[in-house]
Amino acid sequence: MKKGDILELEIEGFAFEGKGIAKIIKDPVDGKGETSKYVIFVHGAYPGDTVEAQLVKIKKSYAEAKAVKVISASQFRVKARCKYFGVCGGCKQQDLDYEAQTKFKQEQVEQIFWKMGGFENLNSESIIPSNNIFFYRNKMEFSLADRRWLTQVEINTGEEIDRNFALGLHIPNIFDKVLDIDECFLQSNVSNQILNFTRDFFKSRSISIYSSKTNSGYLRNLVIKQSHNTEDLMVNLVTFNEDDDLMNEYTGKMVKEIPQITTVINNINLKKALIATGDYEKVYYGNGYIFDSIGNYKFRISANSFFQTNSLQAEKLYQTAMDFAGLTGNEVVYDLYSGAGTISIFISSKAKQVYGFETVESAVSDAEENKKLNKIENVNFIKADLYKSFLPEVEEKQMPKPDVVILDPPRNGMHTNTVDDVIKLSPRAIVYVSCNPATQVRDIKLFCALGYKLVKIRPVDMFPHTYHIENVALLEKEFS
Ligand SMILES: C[S@@+](CC[C@H](N)C(=O)[O-])C[C@H]1O[C@@H](n2cnc3c(N)ncnc32)[C@H](O)[C@@H]1O
Repeated sequence: MKKGDILELEIEGFAFEGKGIAKIIKDPVDGKGETSKYVIFVHGAYPGDTVEAQLVKIKKSYAEAKAVKVISASQFRVKARCKYFGVCGGCKQQDLDYEAQTKFKQEQVEQIFWKMGGFENLNSESIIPSNNIFFYRNKMEFSLADRRWLTQVEINTGEEIDRNFALGLHIPNIFDKVLDIDECFLQSNVSNQILNFTRDFFKSRSISIYSSKTNSGYLRNLVIKQSHNTEDLMVNLVTFNEDDDLMNEYTGKMVKEIPQITTVINNINLKKALIATGDYEKVYYGNGYIFDSIGNYKFRISANSFFQTNSLQAEKLYQTAMDFAGLTGNEVVYDLYSGAGTISIFISSKAKQVYGFETVESAVSDAEENKKLNKIENVNFIKADLYKSFLPEVEEKQMPKPDVVILDPPRNGMHTNTVDDVIKLSPRAIVYVSCNPATQVRDIKLFCALGYKLVKIRPVDMFPHTYHIENVALLEKEFS
């Protein structure tokens, strides 16, 4: 068996990152020993499929392949809605029935907890599906590139296509080329109007696109933030330098054509790093932010502040965390990794006092604004780097010890220092919200070795058509 070989495979299971699992019988080396089962992870294949797949990576204990032909299709396959499906990196599972998507996500979390954490008799509550499976994102980040990726369909048209201007989304593992798109079903239709207006406006004026190779050019990203619960709509153009005249013309013409836009901003990113945030920003129209709500609470969102991208599901996620915490109104709660304070504020009416800890300065000031906006008294936000011990700060400010700690760290999970700090605080319950069940279970194992037990988990689907999984876990202290 070697790289490039094509095998016929039956897909039996669903693995991390949405890959299909096939198992083949492997003969013993040199005819000695026993035959064994060998796992092949197949990109682009689902349980129930029989596919022809080409081997792309071969390791001792497993291989990876990509499906090149579906011989017989799984019952879970559906027709993808988007014409860019299969090329665009955005919705890799759009051809999988939504019920099957959530079923597989649930099974995957359970497998991770079992295989990586040893949690066999897991109390796993059923996944909360998303009501909207299209148009669910409140933020879209599009890229501009001076090298356009052409789809097979575009090549087949035989038409002359400008390959030096693309506004759209990246395709997997290719960072210097962008797929030019005129329609995306993740945000509402007005977002597509903005996308197409922006392309036409800058292309017709032959405005340059930033290239990290030459570290020159103007256009970098187009970020659209659309409130789910208000009419607010932000257009944020990220550029390498300032051009007031051009921005004023762009804004004036766009707002006239698309009057639903409530604010236009220009973020200026002077760095080589391909990120859609600026070193500073200028507001060209409106107030420079939008408001959205989660549950009964209103939040102010600026161009660069973190906010859950699926507002409707965020409410269900936070509600699950609050239910798991079993709050009665008498508890002191620490919300670690509090971002713009959304969880702290959401649970505030059910707690005596909430303390939110967050390292990003602008997120802490957004949280303070959000606290004022919602006229909340019993929440405090503290700027703290949780990788270092935050206990000296707790003592210095004479904060009461928490009854409950809520954790919502980034994908790479918690630092062991933070786990130690939480153990020292000895809360009755720990609610762990995570967008990466693998690091979540790694951290939960540490808590379980230090006096806590895992009571239950519940996944929440925040990102239909993607393999991303959000999961909430409840831990309780074993002995008081
Ligand atoms: C997944 S977000 C959660 C935000 C918030 N709970 C929410 O639902 O919007 C993780 C947060 O952890 C913060 N963070 C990352 N590293 C941190 C650290 N070392 N100390 C404190 N906060 C950190 C990030 O800035 C981010 O706001």
